[in-house]
Amino acid sequence: MEGGIRALFVIWSRVVSCFCLMLGQITPLHRELFYKNRNMTERNITDPQRMEKIVSLCKRRGYIFQSAELYGGLNGCWDYGPLGAELKKNLKDYWWRKNVREREDIEGVDGSILTHREVLTASGHIGGFSDPMCDDLLTKARLRADQIEPQDGIIYSYTGASYPDTEWSVERAYSVLIKPEENQNENNARKIAKQYYGQFLKDKELSFKKISLVGESTAEAKGTTRFNPATGSLVTEPREFNLMFKTQMGASSSEDDPNAVAYLRPETAQTIFVNFKNVLETSRQKLPFGIAQIGKAFRNEINPRNFTFRSREFEQMEIEYFCAPEDGMRLTDEWLELRLKFYEEIGIPREKLHILDVPDGERAFYSKKTYDIEYEFPFGIQELEGVAYRTDYDLGKHGEHSGKAMDYFDEEKRERFVPHVVEPSAGCDRTVLALICEAYDEEVLTDDKGKEDSRTVLRFDPKMAPIKAAILPLLKKSDDQTRIAKEIQKSLQPFMNVFYDESGAVGRRYRRQDEAGTPFCVTVDFDTLGESGDELKNTVTIRHRDSMEQERVAIDELLVWLLKKTR
Ligand code: GAP
Repeated sequence: MEGGIRALFVIWSRVVSCFCLMLGQITPLHRELFYKNRNMTERNITDPQRMEKIVSLCKRRGYIFQSAELYGGLNGCWDYGPLGAELKKNLKDYWWRKNVREREDIEGVDGSILTHREVLTASGHIGGFSDPMCDDLLTKARLRADQIEPQDGIIYSYTGASYPDTEWSVERAYSVLIKPEENQNENNARKIAKQYYGQFLKDKELSFKKISLVGESTAEAKGTTRFNPATGSLVTEPREFNLMFKTQMGASSSEDDPNAVAYLRPETAQTIFVNFKNVLETSRQKLPFGIAQIGKAFRNEINPRNFTFRSREFEQMEIEYFCAPEDGMRLTDEWLELRLKFYEEIGIPREKLHILDVPDGERAFYSKKTYDIEYEFPFGIQELEGVAYRTDYDLGKHGEHSGKAMDYFDEEKRERFVPHVVEPSAGCDRTVLALICEAYDEEVLTDDKGKEDSRTVLRFDPKMAPIKAAILPLLKKSDDQTRIAKEIQKSLQPFMNVFYDESGAVGRRYRRQDEAGTPFCVTVDFDTLGESGDELKNTVTIRHRDSMEQERVAIDELLVWLLKKTR
């Protein structure tokens, strides 16, 4: 359950907050923290070294680059390089094939990114699509308040500061958290506090080190989230921060003109809801049926992190599956199974997937059931996709705000109602990252003489692999071999992404393809030319990436052979 659902959860949590405060109970924010903490131990099983290697391979092999790296990088944005773009495209194509082309009950759409403000008012995003954020009072670093882990220690508090032999003084409360188990003591606290008060010195000639602190007191803290774990400094009170990117439309738009305001969509789902009637009428579908979309979404995340996992610009693959109210719960369970099967088909094993049945109180108020499908990333167990039963909330809200009925007439039952919806909402970039993390392997090989060597190999399922086959003439100098290899390349190109490589020893070329995740290397050699007799003439060697075994296939049969293995 990410921001889309979180947005409405925020509105709900504000209402419940008031009740809870009145009753002296725990607030939803606290409950959310409790929930996250409960899973912290198992979620924190991480392998930063593996992640570092993956990030470095992504850059080295042209999978993923930091956006605007040339100018210092654009935080939270990523560019896919040649291999990354192919991988992502294979994923999207397969998702579209399974969910749109091979299903008669699902239609595809491709909506605009720029979104009318009324759409997002109705959906609740303008009012409540926010995260609690706070700022480190010393460094000004911005943090997600609900992501600060509870800490223990001694709080050193001050009421202000003055400067010896000057008129300068400041009255302002400030605190620092000191962790004695990390060998910190009062000197650390005082140094940080002096740096903090030093920001208010007008005379830049004065050194903050000489500041006198006023009103020092100490208190023990258990499980506090009011301090930045990285610096020990107090943070500001949490404030709600809307995550949407706002823009102005039209050449003559003025900043104050509300009619010129548009938003970059924070989820693809809303384009689907507002087109429900259009698709229903033009496709002549009957319930249950779905509308699917792949496209960009934008969220001004406070803390983009974990490589592409939490980005500010990302792609979603969403289905809104409309149904009769009585079918909602059953279809949610069915969609969960279908989605798990999909991940297995693309090479993410079931045992690495975790299902979180989001408990009552954690879900958006309109959701009767939500499953999060999570994957064991090297940085912990994290969400790939949410499967949510959103009831009739969205169509109901758009009907209410637009004044146009968003209902459906069931001809058999002769009744009219607002359809309910089940939403499998997957992150495309997160799935690409999971595919890379899952595929990454380092293998130690021992040759016949016992000599050890190692290779890095991306073991993608062939359906997902960016390059399906590398075409290699064994000898660059052999005109016949290069000619045949190029002919093979040309014949395969209309059907799949292949790569021609003639430079260097063939063993080294294999390794390069292993690192790119190419499942098959097709080598044109002397046997292809008929030098060992007619039996092997016009055949090629196919070397398998994972087993490194080789077999011979006739050139005439190569296309069908590869299509069968890579579809
Ligand atoms: N329409 C429902 C919706 O948007 P969500 O849980 O907020 O729900 C769905 O998002 C999926 O989109 C998530 O499971 C995740 O895979 C992906 N996603 C959400 N925020 C993301 C971000 N900042 N960066 C990358 N992927 C993100």
